[in-house]
Amino acid sequence: MTKSTNNQLHIETLLAQAGNRTDDEKTGAISAPIYLSTAYRHAGLGQSTGFDYPREAQPTRCILEKTLAQLENGVAAFALSSGMSAIQLVFTLFNSGDRIIISDDLYGGSYRFFDLLHDHYHLEFSVWDGQDQQALADAIDDQTVALWLETPSNPTMKVIDIAATAKTTKAHGIKLIVDNTFYTPLIQKPLELGADIVVHSATKYLAGHNDILAGAVVAKHQADADQLEFNLVTTGAVLDPFDSWLLLRSLKTLPLRIRQHEANAQTLVKALTANPHVDKVLYPGRGGMISFYLAAGVDVDKFLQALQIVSFAESLGGVESLVTVPAVQTHADLSEAERQAKGITANLLRLSTGLENTVDLAADIAQALAKAAK
Ligand SMILES: Cc1ncc(COP(=O)(O)O)c(C=O)c1O
Repeated sequence: MTKSTNNQLHIETLLAQAGNRTDDEKTGAISAPIYLSTAYRHAGLGQSTGFDYPREAQPTRCILEKTLAQLENGVAAFALSSGMSAIQLVFTLFNSGDRIIISDDLYGGSYRFFDLLHDHYHLEFSVWDGQDQQALADAIDDQTVALWLETPSNPTMKVIDIAATAKTTKAHGIKLIVDNTFYTPLIQKPLELGADIVVHSATKYLAGHNDILAGAVVAKHQADADQLEFNLVTTGAVLDPFDSWLLLRSLKTLPLRIRQHEANAQTLVKALTANPHVDKVLYPGRGGMISFYLAAGVDVDKFLQALQIVSFAESLGGVESLVTVPAVQTHADLSEAERQAKGITANLLRLSTGLENTVDLAADIAQALAKAAK
């Protein structure tokens, strides 16, 4: 665990400077060093530099974790080997028999994990629509320990009011956990809005270049941070030194990237809405993620194959624009009935707007739609 410091600097300054002046005594390196050592010499019995073994603490990862804690305004952060290992770490806080309420439109892999927890570890789950606070209050019973949500939701882009929801969870004494992968703290800071824990698939916007698999957990309260630290040292899915460094480097451009992802997405929303080959566009108002339904008669596969800039690939949040078909990719593990109920039909596409020029992106999508409609 690496503690956050109460830092008044603006987020751009904090991120641009992350890691700088961490090696002043030895070299003055501006870019934080990557420490690969898995062993640390002790000067004598009972003495330590603070680093003993890298599953517990690792110098490069510590700099990253401090930055992540500052970014989300938590007391501590943990960098893990994937978003799913971050989610798994949070669930080590719970016990068999506990009930977790989940919002109704989550990343497909989260559902798969929750099914495993239900079937093999006897955790109970119930679903909330993310909108009706009274329904949430009514759903909280003696067994309930937490609410887990994603906003905007994936892939149908429903927005949940975190501040209002936090009032309900606080009033009933349960934890609020937010997967903040889609918006990032550049757009929303769940811990400041009343959430207790934030998780990220850092593979997405935080890393931002489609080249690192990573996860993050940020805790608002010291008691949770202490328990998470103990459980992570015990279970061990920490991020390795090289990817810790790469993620730290990536974070330095996060504010610029998010600004441009969002500007590009807002232009594309207009272009998609005006295109006769698109039935409906789902956009939550902020960020770089757009979902849209192809109009009847537009062939999904032809559209994907005709794209020359946007790639048909399963991820999001990187500089390269990617398009996903949730029904056969991210949400393939749901039953057909569950997908239909959520509006995840075969003609629903999810676009992660990259950092290419929007004129080129709009032209690529328009020509692919025209070919697919023939
Ligand atoms: C919202 C969200 N949370 C969690 C995950 C899981 O993260 P990872 O793929 O880094 O394990 C994903 C992956 O797509 C995601 O989109």
